Amino acid sequence: MSVKALIDKLQEQGCLTKQEFVQLFTQKTSEDIAYAAQLARSIADQYYGKNIFVRGLIEFTNYCKNDCYYCGIRRSNSKVERYRLTKEEILQCCDEGERLGFRTFVLQGGEDMTYTDEAIAELVREIKSAHPACAVTLSLGERERSSYECFFEAGADRYLLRHETADEEHYQKLHPAEMSLTHRKECLRQLKEIGFQTGCGFMVGSPYQTPETLAEDFLFIHELQPEMIGIGPFIPHQDTPFAKEPGGLLEDSLFYLSLLRIMEKHILLPATTALATIDPKGREKGILAGANVLMPNLSPVAVREKYQLYDGKVCTGDEAAQCRNCLEHRVETTGYHIVVDRGDCV
Ligand code: 5AD
Ligand code: FES
Repeated sequence: MSVKALIDKLQEQGCLTKQEFVQLFTQKTSEDIAYAAQLARSIADQYYGKNIFVRGLIEFTNYCKNDCYYCGIRRSNSKVERYRLTKEEILQCCDEGERLGFRTFVLQGGEDMTYTDEAIAELVREIKSAHPACAVTLSLGERERSSYECFFEAGADRYLLRHETADEEHYQKLHPAEMSLTHRKECLRQLKEIGFQTGCGFMVGSPYQTPETLAEDFLFIHELQPEMIGIGPFIPHQDTPFAKEPGGLLEDSLFYLSLLRIMEKHILLPATTALATIDPKGREKGILAGANVLMPNLSPVAVREKYQLYDGKVCTGDEAAQCRNCLEHRVETTGYHIVVDRGDCV
């Protein structure tokens, strides 16, 4: 079958076999990439029209107990200046965010157990009571099922936990032995069961990724049926074991965004900051490839530089309001527009 026929089959049947995915990834031409983008965009338009949703990202702690080989805030990186935002600082970010038109706040952090379940739940309750029209998304890594239940009861709406790779061997090459893909997948299934709108995802071009491991990612995503999928290029960080590894490619990232849109038609799909970091028009290109979400930074400028998962991250010096304006203009150039809306999955 030709690559174009495979793309059509993905649209019609909602999935492909592992071999077909591998063929798609290895034989695609630039015409195929353009074909997939145009199809992906028309599907996104069917579900979401010209609307682009924005999420205010609050990076509230860069302490992390994990030591993932790719990540700049891994616990072994002693060069990182660690910080934690107080509850008051986080609430201030949300106030500013609501003024700027955000109706979703994403609380993201390293796996920092000094924030107990009760502390997170209390934070969620306070945000929801101050901003009842807003959704709260958590992205705090792996916790116990009882913790996730506690967050959900407190009013959290969504949870982001990228699976990173759905291939067991690949997972072991990206993480130290104490982490496991089995546990990661278990957490994702629990989040879905509890009722969170759930996001998984992976890096494009992470070290040791192959067409076969990527095919596993697509199959896993299709099986999990997440509401959100976060993907962006791997970008090496100078103070990690992967400092000398090559980064992921723009064309690949855009192609996979399109394929994810074609496969999981109604999903919320962000054009990520990592994409904007490897190309000055990365976010715009992401939208034109099928993305419908942007997640600009709402963290206080004073801490932005300290949340460096990878080198060269964009927008670390800009006030939230500047970012919001800049994004508005960028989105307009694509023929789409930002809406003031929680942006739930349809
Ligand atoms: N390059 C790109 N993405 C990264 N992440 C972590 N480190 C890097 C890197 N070096 C991604 C991971 C994580 C998300 C918060 O950021 O996929 O889940
Ligand atoms: Fe942050 Fe442009 S989006 S400055």
